[in-house]
Amino acid sequence: MIETPAQKIVDEAIVSRRSIRAFLPTPVAHEDIEAILQVAARAPSGTNTQPWKVYVLTGASKERLSAAIVAAYRDPDQVKQHAEEYSYYPSRWISPYIDRRRKVGWDLYSLLGLSRENKAGMHAQHGRNYTFFDAPVGMIFTIDRIMEQGSWLDYGMFLQNIMVAARGRGLDTCPQAAFTQFHRIIGEQLQLPANEMVVCGMALGYADPDKVENSLVTEREPVSAFVKFMD
Ligand SMILES: Cc1cc2nc3c(=O)[nH]c(=O)nc-3n(C[C@H](O)[C@H](O)[C@H](O)COP(=O)(O)O)c2cc1C
Repeated sequence: MIETPAQKIVDEAIVSRRSIRAFLPTPVAHEDIEAILQVAARAPSGTNTQPWKVYVLTGASKERLSAAIVAAYRDPDQVKQHAEEYSYYPSRWISPYIDRRRKVGWDLYSLLGLSRENKAGMHAQHGRNYTFFDAPVGMIFTIDRIMEQGSWLDYGMFLQNIMVAARGRGLDTCPQAAFTQFHRIIGEQLQLPANEMVVCGMALGYADPDKVENSLVTEREPVSAFVKFMD
């Protein structure tokens, strides 16, 4: 098969995207953030509904949100008062999903030298979500509560476009469902209107190449495992 330049560039942008969990403090130019979001908004959506809304946090606004969530996350009594508004994961885990989930978790923690017994270490690592893994840009995504499941499909395409467009500019990302647990704090901090529901967060910035967690390369099943070609 002949590889065209476009194929190479597009495939490289998709394949080089990985969830990055340690960022350099290097700021991201405002024009780059805006261009990424404008490109990402070319995502298709059913009847062009464009169900996305994005809060881009840098500087003091990001610090304030992170501080408020970290304070709640560190206090076991407070944590109990925060719960997700929607289920990202199944309530009952079965194979092969649970196996993949466990594998990526242990792969990450063992890279970081965290043993299974080190609950405090794992708790601290999870807590790094709330400072957007030190990325200079944090994004919070919301959807109008009136929208149905189909719009969440559209949303996924928009999010993936952001992550791929970021790669084109040498930037990295980590999509973050961890924020959904603290949607009430996010609502207060960002003064979200009542009709907006938090979908997820995302860290955006330049990857720190020296941090071991960024060496994690996750596995994928081969096409033969999830595709049935039918003549
Ligand atoms: C919607 C969504 C939410 C996610 N939430 C988190 C999160 O809160 N924290 C985190 O460290 N990774 C999160 N991830 C990253 C996944 O763990 C990651 O995509 C998966 O392990 C595959 O690895 P890769 O992204 O490096 O290819 C999320 C991914 C998606 C798509």
